[in-house]
Amino acid sequence: MRAPRKSPVLEITDLHLEIEADRQRTQILRGVDLSIDAGEVHGLVGESGAGKTMVGKVVLGIQPTQAKLTRGTVRFDGQDITNISERARRELMGKGLALIPQDPTTALNPAYRIGKQVTDVLRLHLGMNKAAARVRAFELLSDVHIRSPKRVLQQYPHELSGGMRQRVLIAIAFSCQPKLIIADEPTTALDVTVQRQVLRLIKDLQANRGTALLFITHDFGVVAKICDRLTVLNAGRVLEQGTVRSTFEQPKHAYTSALLKATPRYDRPGDELAPVPAKLTAELEEEAAAYDREAGHA
Ligand SMILES: Nc1ncnc2c1ncn2[C@@H]1O[C@H](COP(=O)(O)OP(=O)(O)O)[C@@H](O)[C@H]1O
Ligand SMILES: [Mg+2]
Repeated sequence: MRAPRKSPVLEITDLHLEIEADRQRTQILRGVDLSIDAGEVHGLVGESGAGKTMVGKVVLGIQPTQAKLTRGTVRFDGQDITNISERARRELMGKGLALIPQDPTTALNPAYRIGKQVTDVLRLHLGMNKAAARVRAFELLSDVHIRSPKRVLQQYPHELSGGMRQRVLIAIAFSCQPKLIIADEPTTALDVTVQRQVLRLIKDLQANRGTALLFITHDFGVVAKICDRLTVLNAGRVLEQGTVRSTFEQPKHAYTSALLKATPRYDRPGDELAPVPAKLTAELEEEAAAYDREAGHA
């Protein structure tokens, strides 16, 4: 018998987003539904341009200013956060919701030492005093397996490798014990060996703390390693959702099968890869255009 589902920590319903540039409106998200349970690792998968990053941005409230939410809602921990105030949003950031970004280079401020950047978050969101924040920052860097936290706290971002910078950002993301972390391709910018370590680290921290994770990636190998369920996105539409196991064993959509065949997998390194067939890509583009016509967008 299946266990009853816990109440979702994130519930995205019928999300539509368009971007207006040069008086032209482009549909980016076309009715995205996605729900993540407490403690669940949910993979958001799709090719470049599918809208994965935009979904994450809307949840965090950091979508570009030209972007307009034309329909749909985002609920976090039971609360509708679709259009909350800047102030309510700041309250939520760090404590409730956090981000592990794709590019660890630009996410840290080059002008400040790591110690300041970690302690600032603790002081702002948790109200810690300087001394307590310093102690905690040391512990946090140890938790992400940085061997000499004391030295790293004194360093500037440019003095650290990409992998070390990403560890610092992971420490910051977990620092206020958020309920949900959005990780947007967090290992894409790293070397292969470092990728594995960082992935393992995120998974271990997530599992130990019971943090839910929206893991954005184009890589099914990564999904196989760390996710419980997944959503396949194409042209801003959800094509398939399910458990990782059922989807890998029996994908429901031809596009999912094609993507699986197109992605190298850690668990099956010898597999031959085949690109997504152009005919299928064209069909999906036509479906998206038909959706827009029906919705009166085009
Ligand atoms: N600031 C922006 N202005 C205009 N178009 C954008 C902007 N950001 C993203 N897009 C478009 O939105 C679509 C989805 O982008 P994105 O969410 O970054 O895709 P993914 O993360 O899946 O690669 C793409 O077609 C992209 O060109
Ligand atoms: Mg992206």
